[in-house]
Amino acid sequence: MPTIIDKLSETLAETLHLTSHKAEAEPKEEQVVEEYVEVNGTAAPSPAFEQSKVTVIYVLGGPGAGKGTQCALLVEDFGFCHLSAGDLLRAEQNREGSEFGQLIRSCIKEGQIVPMEVTLKLIENAVRAALGDENRKGAGWDDGKGRFLIDGFPRKMDQAIAFDAEVCLSSMVLFYTTTEDIMIERILERGKTSGREDDNMESIKKRFVTYRETTLPVIDYYTKLNKVASIDSSPVVEEVYAKTKGVVEKLFAGETVQNVTL
Ligand code: C5P
Ligand code: MG
Repeated sequence: MPTIIDKLSETLAETLHLTSHKAEAEPKEEQVVEEYVEVNGTAAPSPAFEQSKVTVIYVLGGPGAGKGTQCALLVEDFGFCHLSAGDLLRAEQNREGSEFGQLIRSCIKEGQIVPMEVTLKLIENAVRAALGDENRKGAGWDDGKGRFLIDGFPRKMDQAIAFDAEVCLSSMVLFYTTTEDIMIERILERGKTSGREDDNMESIKKRFVTYRETTLPVIDYYTKLNKVASIDSSPVVEEVYAKTKGVVEKLFAGETVQNVTL
């Protein structure tokens, strides 16, 4: 039987020719969310890694919401492997001989989502490498176990469904919320030194549109599955982190994950 990724891969060729096919027959994201929620529970996914051994936390929020900053702190306290989808894509873009370099560059500059087959493969490879890395030891990394923060992913419903079903079922979503004004201020500040081609006002506007239209439905989906911790990331880093740490401690203490707003 073809897997979800196989089926979605069939459409990759079309996806790559965005201009000629984009407007046709794309269902509204809300409709997609409803359909996915309906099939959840009846599908019998067989992911590459078991949720009982590998803990996956998705970290979402608008551009500049503070995802990377919070992840870095979580790594220190809990020994997570932090995988930023954006960083993995930028590394692939700059890798000599990559067949996706040009595609990734233009998607990032335009604030568009890179076709998920590319991103999913990069993350899956990184997960596999971390699990096989003998230098990773200690809490959460014995006997084939591992713990991952997947930052800036899933940005679109197809990524969410495919990763949960084919790679590893996620345990929860950390969702950072703040105002667009704060996000803009943070990105422009970062842009002074980041060297990123999308840390400028023109790209930021496009990233916000993608975020609202394509990523918020993903949050909606996981909210319906009761897996989202929403954290206001407007205050100073320490304050946001105190809340973040509390939620993650509960997860590792075995408490049932439920939607919470902090
Ligand atoms: O998360 P970050 O801001 O680093 O992502 C930068 C860009 O990388 C996004 O605007 C998007 O173009 C691309 N990206 C993607 N799919 C993801 C994560 C990032 O296409 N899951
Ligand atoms: Mg980031």
